[in-house]
Amino acid sequence: MNNIMSKKLSTKPLRGMKDFYPPDLREINWIIDTIRDVADLYSYEEFESPSLEPIEIFAAKSSEELVNEQSFIVEKKKGEKLILIPELTPSLARIITAKRQELKKPIRWFSVPTCYRYERPQKGRRREFKQINMDILGENSLYGDLEIFSIIVDIFSEFGATSKQFQIYYNNRRFIDSVCELILQVPKEKIPLVYKILDKADKMENSEYEKYVLDNFQDEIIIQGIYKLKEANSLNDLLTQFEDISKEFYDSKGFKELTSFIQLLEEARISEYCTFSPGVVRGLDYYTGIVYEVFDTGKENIRSIFGGGRYDDLLSLFSDEKITGTGFGMGVLMFSLFLKTYDLIPKEIREPDYTDTIFIASINENVSEYVLKLARMIRAEDFPCIVDYRFSNLKNQLSKAHEIGVLIVLIIGPKEMEQNEVTIRNMNTEKQETIKNSSLIDKIYDIIDELETQN
Ligand code: HAM
Repeated sequence: MNNIMSKKLSTKPLRGMKDFYPPDLREINWIIDTIRDVADLYSYEEFESPSLEPIEIFAAKSSEELVNEQSFIVEKKKGEKLILIPELTPSLARIITAKRQELKKPIRWFSVPTCYRYERPQKGRRREFKQINMDILGENSLYGDLEIFSIIVDIFSEFGATSKQFQIYYNNRRFIDSVCELILQVPKEKIPLVYKILDKADKMENSEYEKYVLDNFQDEIIIQGIYKLKEANSLNDLLTQFEDISKEFYDSKGFKELTSFIQLLEEARISEYCTFSPGVVRGLDYYTGIVYEVFDTGKENIRSIFGGGRYDDLLSLFSDEKITGTGFGMGVLMFSLFLKTYDLIPKEIREPDYTDTIFIASINENVSEYVLKLARMIRAEDFPCIVDYRFSNLKNQLSKAHEIGVLIVLIIGPKEMEQNEVTIRNMNTEKQETIKNSSLIDKIYDIIDELETQN
């Protein structure tokens, strides 16, 4: 009595988390599988690493905000803090370093981890989310970054998206270093603060942003320089706003790397998908070179879909050997919102497909052993098979098969069992015939061919 009266538990998942019912999961899996095909075309291999990691590997070079404010921390033993991974890159650095001697470089890997961030849930952001990661490590040249850009473009193109619908907004941290040191004369120790301000700009109101800049910098040249970096939309536009740029700046690694990369994008014929954006610096501390974020160019989805960049020193957390990497993380949720906005997900993906499923209806339960044997035979040939366990009321069984879209039904009664036969029915033509079970598989193939030619 007590139990019946007591309050029932909530069926809702935790805030910021989602239950994926089969239609949702079919859609997500279709997206991920399509991206797996692109990964295959570039020879990226899939790997997995644990969801729980020691907090130290994130605390050192990820982002203070991510680790201190946005993480799920688990403390099972006193003093031992574990983190539910908020991103994958430090784990990737750990597992690559562990096998650095035997892995052939460049290493092209991808993974689809579930990540956890204690963020305010909002459109495109959850506390538990799937993130596709692709990274190339041990490729020092800009061709590594270029390959990642090409993969991003190919992923979007594979779904039918165009350069009018998305853009890769890119920058180079070394270029920002050169601007800060050689044009704006920002003291070296304050350059990370410039990154932080630029990264925060989009998340703040204008007045709040201006106050933030003024609280951190007093020098007018630096303040104006930060505003220019935020607003410029081409390299030319940016540089013409500064007076007296020294030769040292034009000779700097940051400037040269950026201009070479712009040229590579041209040569690879993907510049129409890319926009130089000096305000993009990324919030994670480990980035050192080219950085990028991908956005919907429309107004519907305002948060980044992809984020990534080059990290030269992340693996130094685990070893003295230097291995550089570059790659991206892409939120599957954000990407699916983008695809939905532009109507790029076929509606039928959400529906289960029973067109090659064989449905077995039986007249009574006495035939169960024979029916189960047939089901095993059919599945051994790689055809999905559903057995209706009601074993009565054939009419109901047939209407169930019809309702879910099955095209081939076997009808089994005592006569079929005794004679080692099956009655096979083409649900489209409603024709049925009784055949020996030894020719069942051939008959299934025949009907499938027939159905295909009809479509
Ligand atoms: P990130 O910019 O922090 O980079 O995340 C990359 C993408 O993950 C975002 O653009 C977004 O689509 C998705 N994402 C982030 N937070 C959430 C959330 N709360 N809910 C849903 N989706 C989210 C990184 O994580 C880097 N580790 C990427 C990387 C790989 N860099 C180099 N290699």
